[in-house]
Amino acid sequence: DPIRLADYTPPPYVIDHVSLDFQLDFEQTEVDSRLRLRRHPDALPGRELLLHGEDLSLLAIAIDGQPLAPAQYAVSAEGLRLIDPPAEFELHTRVRIHPARNTRLEGLYQSSAFLLTQCEAEGFRRITYFLDRPDVMARFTVRLEADQQQFPVLLSNGDDVAQGTLANGRHFVQWQDPWPKPSYLFAIAAGALGHIEDYFRTRSGRDVRLRIYAEPRALPRSWFALDALKRSMRWDEARYGLEYDLDQFNIVATYDFNMGAMENKSLNIFNAKAIVADLERATDADLTYVEAVVAHEYFHNWTGNRVTCRDWFQLSLKEGLTVYRDQEFSADQGSRAVKRIDDVRLLRANQFPEDSGPFAHPVRPSEYVEINNFYTATVYEKGAEIVRLYERVLGREGFRRGMDLYFQRHDGQAVTTDDFRAAMADANGVDLSRFSRWYEQAGTPILTVTEQFDSERGVLTVQFSQETPGTLGQADKLPVPIPIPIALYRQDGLRLPLQQRDVGPPLAGAMLVLTEASQTLQFDGLQEKPVLSVLHDFSAPVALRHRQSVAELSVRLGFEQDPFCRFEAAQNLGEHLIQSVYAGQALDAVSGLAEIGRAFKALCADAGLDPAVLAECLNLPDEAYLSERMQAIDPSRLFHARQAVATWLGQQLEGALLQHYHREAQSAGGGFDAPSTAARRIRHRALALLIAGDATRHGALASELAVTARNMTERLAALSLLVHFGLADQEAALAQFYQQYEDDPLLLDKWLSVQASSPQPDALSRVRALLKHPAYTHRNPNKVRALIGTFGRLNRLHFHAADGSGYALYADALQAVDALNPQVAARLSAAFNGWRRFEPLRQEAMRRTLQRLLQAGLSKDSAEIVTKALEAS
Ligand code: ARG
Ligand code: ZN
Repeated sequence: DPIRLADYTPPPYVIDHVSLDFQLDFEQTEVDSRLRLRRHPDALPGRELLLHGEDLSLLAIAIDGQPLAPAQYAVSAEGLRLIDPPAEFELHTRVRIHPARNTRLEGLYQSSAFLLTQCEAEGFRRITYFLDRPDVMARFTVRLEADQQQFPVLLSNGDDVAQGTLANGRHFVQWQDPWPKPSYLFAIAAGALGHIEDYFRTRSGRDVRLRIYAEPRALPRSWFALDALKRSMRWDEARYGLEYDLDQFNIVATYDFNMGAMENKSLNIFNAKAIVADLERATDADLTYVEAVVAHEYFHNWTGNRVTCRDWFQLSLKEGLTVYRDQEFSADQGSRAVKRIDDVRLLRANQFPEDSGPFAHPVRPSEYVEINNFYTATVYEKGAEIVRLYERVLGREGFRRGMDLYFQRHDGQAVTTDDFRAAMADANGVDLSRFSRWYEQAGTPILTVTEQFDSERGVLTVQFSQETPGTLGQADKLPVPIPIPIALYRQDGLRLPLQQRDVGPPLAGAMLVLTEASQTLQFDGLQEKPVLSVLHDFSAPVALRHRQSVAELSVRLGFEQDPFCRFEAAQNLGEHLIQSVYAGQALDAVSGLAEIGRAFKALCADAGLDPAVLAECLNLPDEAYLSERMQAIDPSRLFHARQAVATWLGQQLEGALLQHYHREAQSAGGGFDAPSTAARRIRHRALALLIAGDATRHGALASELAVTARNMTERLAALSLLVHFGLADQEAALAQFYQQYEDDPLLLDKWLSVQASSPQPDALSRVRALLKHPAYTHRNPNKVRALIGTFGRLNRLHFHAADGSGYALYADALQAVDALNPQVAARLSAAFNGWRRFEPLRQEAMRRTLQRLLQAGLSKDSAEIVTKALEAS
């Protein structure tokens, strides 16, 4: 049965203080707990109190020092029921758990030579009995005791206040966290861990000791992350006046982790791939990711920890806001334009399909079966776009006023997305009530723009209309407020002033905030039909339908002042070509082809353009995004149509691409700075197009790059081109890469991904063989994602093989993973969500695969996804 937002009630009891004592051991850990509980002032009356607990063996139980009689409590699969507890009492329990047997990686588990925890969302109940919900905030004292040899390091939240050695080679450390927190932010890490260290002095003069803990071989590659942490701390002070609030901040990196990272108070735990990265062994994309995740988890200290969520329906309160904050941080570190383009690409490839598929849900969901399934692109990325909307309409200062008021009102509380919106509105004296619809309605709004030009009067009439398609259980939608910046360009690229006629709402700062289903604007004083540009910087998470001619798009590609809009014009031109070929036209016969070729050539010659932006303009729209806008898809036909356009582009632009490739050779050997990363981006885009254009002529460049590579970005670009184009040197390059990096789990992940995403005919048999390779195991989430996840997400050609072989292989692997780790398997299940968009044969094959999975018996996590997929109309 689903949990419903409408059923929310305050917790029955408050827990003021928690005292935990761990006797740590890989096989058997004992957890002794003392909770100080008192009835919640607003609690509904009840005779029973249920404390959450899963897979715990209860060894002892007492209230106020009195052991309980069997009639006073009951243990079930859900937890521990206390019958007629007093209004205020101390509960003592002692439980046993088995970390080494924990394959779900929730609660306390083992990763190589240490133990660690993952509690969000509901993992704490796998450690001890508790009111495991975010609106129960308690002060924690934690004593960790273990064998000193085996567990030299003993970490938890807050400050270490006592430690000592004991008899029998044991030792202990006692931790105290002065800040009340919900149980999902609890953490421990214990075992054989080394560390690196640095300091940060806060604005008000507090010296914070910063450490990253990891297995020793990973430490020399973790300095970039430590530096990113310091930059994040500085940035949050400068941008939001937010300072760190303890004397130490620790990060632990593990190779065994279900997600990216976790913001546990003062003890962040990270997937190693979000920490361990330097130029030698990580790509630019990896380093960008590390910087963003380090910032994200650090920023949670205020947006998530100091102010947390009332219930899990409010997840976007902390995640949407913190993603927005990390996006802004990253934008300030390098190129803001490139960051925005990358984020929009990601949103469209991941969130748009989610929002139009069977698992579509509002940013603030109204019900769930398994909360772990709601850590989604919608809650995170669309949530961040909504926060950006506030900034868009309030301005940066207005947004800051809202943030200040939010912390002033809610520090130390567990609150809702409505509270956040109220702070934004009240701080600025404006009404933002309509923005609640952005949180409550699933589905991507479609924004349609139509133009009419009256050449006699020189008047342009523009109609804006919006519609959000119905989603499962939510047929009718209301209009949402959509900020739409507007610009007009002359054919020669000159930006025209906006002369608005008295029709529709007056624009403030060249921006319309569309609040109705449809609104019309008029502009006059125009000599010729201008080129209209809307939605710059991707001002709202909508699907834009704006028909423009090739001529108009070419003007935009050449002259738009907003880099996102140039990218968008390029995407539209690319989409036009791909869809025409997909529809059966010969490329030479596609309307406007020559003009498009000229526009792209001119773009390549634009010396004022950031090479990284150019690279993205030359990167054709993803298949996932294109598929969003199609029906009855034949994935193989779509792949080949996109490939044909890439081939054409590579031939058309050959001279310019070679020029960029060679010209940027030297800069591409530089560090992780904007010019060097931009140089690598354009070179690799150029090389990919050149090889698509003529593999026999340009394939050698990839072989050469594999040998001369000066960093992992180059090495991996070369390797994936060799493999994906099936070039002569591919086997040697793969073998060499494996040999060189056999000891590096993160690089083996890449080695797996490159092969799993290959469009070459042997891809499926390769994946099948790799499933048995010693480098692969279903037990490690990174390996699962690298091989199976990549195959399902990026290998559209072979995952969707017409004979169903891709689906079958994928489903078998999914089932095996599900038996070990439901959370990771549930993510894999989402690969079938789009099944109704495909042509009938694939639809049927996917539907049958889903049914087979469900019949085989799935975890609650995966079953929720698969059931929804089958239900959808
Ligand atoms: N709060 C963590 C982070 O953003 C992610 C936790 C994911 N948890 C989960 N159960 N999937 O930043
Ligand atoms: Zn987060």
